[in-house]
Amino acid sequence: MVRETSSTESAQGLDLSVDLAPNNPHHLRLVNPVMIASGTFGYDGYGRGITEDMDLGELGAVVPKTFTPSPREGNPEPRWYPTSYREAWDTGDILFLNAIGLTNPGIEAGLKDVTPGWDRWNATYILSFASDSVEQFGEMASMADKGTGYQAIELNLSCPNVADGSLFGHSASLTAQAVAAVRANTDRPILAKLAPNVPNIVEIARAAVDGGADAISLCNTMPAMHIDTQTCQTVLGNITGGLSGPGLRPISLALVYQVSKAVDVPIVGIGGIFSGEHAAEYILAGASAVQIGSANLVGLNAPWRILAELKDWMRQSGLSNLQGLSI
Ligand SMILES: Cc1cc2nc3c(=O)[nH]c(=O)nc-3n(C[C@H](O)[C@H](O)[C@H](O)COP(=O)(O)O)c2cc1C
Repeated sequence: MVRETSSTESAQGLDLSVDLAPNNPHHLRLVNPVMIASGTFGYDGYGRGITEDMDLGELGAVVPKTFTPSPREGNPEPRWYPTSYREAWDTGDILFLNAIGLTNPGIEAGLKDVTPGWDRWNATYILSFASDSVEQFGEMASMADKGTGYQAIELNLSCPNVADGSLFGHSASLTAQAVAAVRANTDRPILAKLAPNVPNIVEIARAAVDGGADAISLCNTMPAMHIDTQTCQTVLGNITGGLSGPGLRPISLALVYQVSKAVDVPIVGIGGIFSGEHAAEYILAGASAVQIGSANLVGLNAPWRILAELKDWMRQSGLSNLQGLSI
């Protein structure tokens, strides 16, 4: 670990601020690196269940659920697992699978009915969208550019739970084209969210940067399944789903490390973060920020708890900021 903390800085307290788009004229300055991951913001992905005492302005940013060009109902139930074993949830020591299937009202209704409501929250919002065509990515960016309530766009190039969902994130060329199509239609910061199951993550991340991405988000869920040997059935209506939670953490951590050595843009680490120490692991691996996903399914207060624990870790480590850390 490289420590460049002066005693004066320590006396002034902790500075967790981070800019996820330092090369973009709009910048994407967050008060701290703890964000809420797409699809896990409240019970519906758009904040249902978030109460007044949960101050979203205390978090770095929120990424509400992905919008697609047209409305999507999602996959057959059950759409996520576990539905039992609640006693193990506190430890996070459990299998998290989902196959929601990008349930959303579509970008048009989203921009009309959903995102304007975000203006009233004291938060930094990042819009997420997915598509199965380069042209539609461009069109969505153009529509979104007129919308309000958000400061940046995360491209979900990597959903394993819809047909062709990972099409883009599995191809360097399509990744570059999708990002470039969005770049051509908006000057807001772009984060490219990539898939874990690719042979060469560095190649895909470089393509995203070449296309104009300001930051890389790593990673989405990993294709996975689970069979209940009592019912002799798979636990998801879609049969397969995406693995998130603790099992994903070491995989994503390695991707973050590899990509951080290869590209010169900020990286957002995602996968199995249930504690401040997990967040610190990602920052030590090269991430500038982190997103909390499955932990929100255990308790909606998880990001605030994790932020407090990250600050504890900084104090214990004698750090006043998170810049320049590495293993
Ligand atoms: C229930 C659920 C819904 C999700 N929906 C989305 C989504 O709409 N868009 C997206 O980019 N990622 C989605 N994800 C993936 C998460 O944003 C995150 O990348 C993944 O869960 C890994 O982080 P975690 O291990 O902290 O959950 C979803 C994950 C879960 C568990």
